Amino acid sequence: MSIQTIASALLEEKQTPSHLTRRVYDALAPVYGVSAQLFHSRAHTAAHRASGIEDGARVLEVGMGSGEMFGRLVTGNPGGQTFGVDLSPNMAARSQADVRRKFPEVAAQCQAADASRLPFARHSFDAVVCCFLFELLGDVQIEDSLLEIRRVLKPEGRLTLTLVGEKKRAFSAAYALASKVAPAFWGRQVDESLVNMLPSFGFNVVTDFYLRQLFYVSRVVSAVKTQR
Ligand SMILES: C[S@@+](CC[C@H](N)C(=O)[O-])C[C@H]1O[C@@H](n2cnc3c(N)ncnc32)[C@H](O)[C@@H]1O
Repeated sequence: MSIQTIASALLEEKQTPSHLTRRVYDALAPVYGVSAQLFHSRAHTAAHRASGIEDGARVLEVGMGSGEMFGRLVTGNPGGQTFGVDLSPNMAARSQADVRRKFPEVAAQCQAADASRLPFARHSFDAVVCCFLFELLGDVQIEDSLLEIRRVLKPEGRLTLTLVGEKKRAFSAAYALASKVAPAFWGRQVDESLVNMLPSFGFNVVTDFYLRQLFYVSRVVSAVKTQR
């Protein structure tokens, strides 16, 4: 993979957003783990704790990227089953190879799939986790993905999210600019609107806090599926 391949994927603007996102993250799969470690690892640890996942659970991570959080989920759930999906086939293949190598005995499986069309039956999971995914989805995709996550969660199952959470004006301006230059990589900040819409999609927020890693602020939100 050359710098040119990454650059052309980042700057390409003629295709549908999902197609573009897939291309960008396919190209970044070999190197993405560095940025996840640098900016996301504290949020991953906090989200894992907030999720309340116990060993023996059926767990799904949506948009697991190159598998940094997925490894934590598998480590904490050796007696259960852990599944991961990502739009990017390269990310899914990388995470799958990693998990096979590190945890050959554990029931864990990654595959390529879209968050808005999850390939699982209703009421399949005790917990769903999404880290820095929703920023990359369009408005309709966000709604469809929340509906899908609700569908695959068991009654009273738990959804845990990490989101870009910085509120400073300078950050928002820089993020908005980055989103214009390379929307398929950066997405846009959605934490306020997303957290506000959770109740109307049948989720009751039980944990909501912010943390910082270097200059990067993350918001960790955990919500329980309600009866409707
Ligand atoms: C910013 S990365 C975050 C990766 C990882 N969750 C982390 O915390 O480091 C977002 C990931 O979401 C995936 N993604 C984007 N749109 C998606 C969709 N519609 N369905 C599933 N995964 C998607 C991307 O391919 C990428 O791997």
